[in-house]
Amino acid sequence: MDFNLSEEHLAVQDAARDFAWNELLPGAIERDNAQKFDPDLLRKMGELGFMGMMVSPEYGGGGMDTLAYVIAMEEISKVDASAGVIMSVNNSLVCWGLEEYGTEAQKQQYLTRLASGSVIGAFCLSEPEAGSDATSQHTTAFELDGHYLLNGTKNWITNGGTSAICLVIAQTHPELGHKGINAFIVEKGWEGFSVGKKEDKMGIRASDTNTLMFGEVKVPKENRIGDDGFGFKFAMTVLNGGRIGIAAQALGIAAGAFELSLKYSKERKTFGKPISDHQAIQFKLSEMAVKIEAARMLVYKAARLKDEGKDYIQAAAMAKLYASETAMWVTTEAVQIHGGYGYVKEYHVERMMRDAKITQIYEGTSEIQKLVIARELLK
Ligand code: CAA
Repeated sequence: MDFNLSEEHLAVQDAARDFAWNELLPGAIERDNAQKFDPDLLRKMGELGFMGMMVSPEYGGGGMDTLAYVIAMEEISKVDASAGVIMSVNNSLVCWGLEEYGTEAQKQQYLTRLASGSVIGAFCLSEPEAGSDATSQHTTAFELDGHYLLNGTKNWITNGGTSAICLVIAQTHPELGHKGINAFIVEKGWEGFSVGKKEDKMGIRASDTNTLMFGEVKVPKENRIGDDGFGFKFAMTVLNGGRIGIAAQALGIAAGAFELSLKYSKERKTFGKPISDHQAIQFKLSEMAVKIEAARMLVYKAARLKDEGKDYIQAAAMAKLYASETAMWVTTEAVQIHGGYGYVKEYHVERMMRDAKITQIYEGTSEIQKLVIARELLK
């Protein structure tokens, strides 16, 4: 598989790196403390084309491939994983899902705004009792007088507070199990739709994560995505691509922590020499570099397969599993290399270690990725 980056890929990498270092880095610690993302930064991300990278130009997107997207995700997440997840959910779950499965009218009405970043989207699958066990949807959407009536609660929704457009998964025909589930486009501000508790999280604190509540929300029939009963397949298919985005986010967190550790190890002296002269540190740096490179190859492979129109379910799960485990391991070692400085907020690696943890949990835990890989192996 050819991983040589084209000029376009390199230009995307440069643009994302410049934005990350010049614009995201300065306030990253403050945003983490405040648990708030800066709307001006979000606007700039939209202007630079990071919010709808893979969307066709006819709907206002960048028309780029998945490889370009993961390259940008890595650079942005190296510096600010909160920006990474905001971008990942909007690009892979919401925009890609709408472009792939939405009607022309849905694309005109919603995708164009989401792709430009003028509004952001949320993907609402998880519930208090439906995390890994995603078929167990308690949110219902029953048909009534030409509408669907949506009732229920969604939990841990990324962009839950700041999004304007939500893709909501709900059970329409309980007797059909997962084949009775549908996906709907639901707008904030519709009667009965309320934003609940904002979570006080361990990591990715600058991105907002909320409970969303639906009480008798009237959803027009034309806002259903795909045929009746397509919702679970929609969610799973969209998540296959989403996992490539989160794998790239995890890769970025690991690579960012590694770069800081490499630099610090050459500056910090113990026993009369830079700590990079100590074999104990060299071994850590070497292992970090190998794992990061292996993670990058898995992420690029999954992206390439998706771009080539080949099956990428297993590759995406492998990339997500390995990159997120790597992010957790590398950031823990990065804190260790930084010693006491690593344990305080000023040095970024503390934040990165907290940010890494969620990559092993959302868009399918590491355990779910192993399940997905095993199912593909045993097919
Ligand atoms: N791709 C496409 N289709 C899939 C699929 C996949 N990866 N996995 C399952 N399906 C399909 C199956 O083919 C089956 O369809 P048919 O009946 O038509 O054949 C249907 O889905 C049901 O599949 P299973 O019978 O295998 O269902 P299951 O209950 O045994 O297991 C699961 C499904 C793989 C465990 C699934 O529930 C799962 O992936 N769980 C994790 C959910 C998840 O990732 N949640 C993330 C929340 S979103 C988020 O985190 C976003 C954010 O804000 C950052």
